[in-house]
Amino acid sequence: MNKQTNGSTPPYRAVINGYGSFVPPKLLTNDELAKTVDTSDEWITTRTGIKVRHITTDSETTAYLATEAAKRALAQAKLHHRDLELIIVATITPEMVFPSTASFVQRALGAKKAWVFDLAAACSGFIYGLSIVQQFIENGRLKNALVIGAETLTKITDWTDRSSCILFGDGAGAVVVQRSTNQRRGILYSTMHSDGNRWEALNCQAYGSRHPSHKKLDDPKKIYMQIKGREVYQQAIRRIVETVNDCLKHNNLTTDDIAMVISHQMNARIIESSAKRLNLPDEKVYLNINEYGNTSSASVPIAFDECARKGKIKRGDLIVLVAFGAGLTWGASIVEF
Ligand code: ACO
Repeated sequence: MNKQTNGSTPPYRAVINGYGSFVPPKLLTNDELAKTVDTSDEWITTRTGIKVRHITTDSETTAYLATEAAKRALAQAKLHHRDLELIIVATITPEMVFPSTASFVQRALGAKKAWVFDLAAACSGFIYGLSIVQQFIENGRLKNALVIGAETLTKITDWTDRSSCILFGDGAGAVVVQRSTNQRRGILYSTMHSDGNRWEALNCQAYGSRHPSHKKLDDPKKIYMQIKGREVYQQAIRRIVETVNDCLKHNNLTTDDIAMVISHQMNARIIESSAKRLNLPDEKVYLNINEYGNTSSASVPIAFDECARKGKIKRGDLIVLVAFGAGLTWGASIVEF
């Protein structure tokens, strides 16, 4: 099942041995949002499944959320931070333009031996990061790595735009991935995709080299996230179904073999429609968007952490992790827990 491209089985497996998550304590309910924009709890709940989201205060930054999630994952794995060799922070809301958010996490953890970087693949960032780490571990280069998805999307939200401000929340999730010779556990397969032609569907344009900070913006809204909700909705369902089917087919599996699909939480209706097309029963699809909103790269590791801690996934279970986001980017992994 875990064959390399030359058909051989890699000597090592990349195993998720620790998981943790952290969300800022402050809550923003639909009713509270309805006091500032023309919307209602009923509209948001019906169209998205979201009831409440966690939002950061000014002093709570992406690196802070990422570090808290990382500490929990390290504690759960019983791994000392000095043994970390690689830290990847998947984020589109970094601490600053540079250095990377991962640099701040490394500093906060004291993980001196690690090399670190940020990965900007939007909502698919965590899955992309997991896939990169999988390669380094399977080829024997690394033993201990940390993959974090961390976002403060509410800091780039246009709070006057009712079609987007209702969607997002802040948070972070992390996993410790370690080398193992146990061939019965770990990340079995990963598949990643991108389509840069559709970048306009989801973006935040300022400030980058196209819109440098010394030039007045032609549209002041370019400092905020802009989304074409309908296009994203349709593309997301199409790509999630396609990618999960690819994962199953490539590994000679059916949905009967899968214990749980943990999807990026962007809209409950997208997840439910995708599940229906994949013939997945409700109990095999994890949904927690009602409590968090869309936390982009953080949503899969937060959901993974919850599933594991609540006992919804057990040792030996086959789990599909799947995400779709700006870029466009999408991908999935099969993990034997
Ligand atoms: N409250 C009340 N009415 C609203 C709201 C709101 N919050 N937002 C939009 N509407 C209105 C619109 O103005 C429109 O009114 P009209 O018919 O009079 O013109 C009507 O509702 C329908 O608008 P649509 O945009 O067609 O609504 P839709 O059913 O597509 O739902 C939504 C919008 C929820 C955004 C949906 O398209 C969606 O979930 N898309 C994908 C999610 C997404 O883009 N996520 C971002 C991912 S990016 C990332 O993760 C970083």
